[in-house]
Amino acid sequence: MKSVDWETLRLFLHVLAATVWVGGQLVLAALVPALRSAGQGVTATAARAFNRVAWPAFGVLVVTGVWNVVAVDDTSDAFQHTLMLKYVLVLASGVTALVHQRASSRATMAVFGALTGLCALGALFVGVLLAQ
Ligand code: HEM
Repeated sequence: MKSVDWETLRLFLHVLAATVWVGGQLVLAALVPALRSAGQGVTATAARAFNRVAWPAFGVLVVTGVWNVVAVDDTSDAFQHTLMLKYVLVLASGVTALVHQRASSRATMAVFGALTGLCALGALFVGVLLAQ
């Protein structure tokens, strides 16, 4: 059996938080039609409940992300450029999620909901690229 070390814990926490932030958004989006038909205000209640888990997960992603950067210490251009792209996607993922959360019109909510999902998926993809 392979041994467990700090790298195992670091990647476990990073990937666990990514499953909540990215996977949670996808699952919530898939549930919206069912939540809407369950009654007025049900979608908003579910979204608020999700936010109470999603933002702490985003915080864990940032903290363990910094831990990743320090631990990996790869100075190659390819790694650094990929990391820059990841920073942009993570920032866009957080900002669009915040705008989506605070939107008052349905159109803004739909556009920023789609954008935050895409940026989160992009950050996930580039994260896997960094770990290769
Ligand atoms: C939306 C936020 C984020 C998502 C969805 C995400 C997702 C991921 C995933 C899935 C991996 C691959 C892990 C593996 O295959 O073992 C990864 C690796 C990595 N992430 Fe993130 N991440 C996020 C935020 C961050 C942030 C904020 C930073 C930097 C401050 C960061 C830096 C890194 C680094 C350096 C790696 C490579 C780790 C290694 O090779 O050991 N990530 N990320």
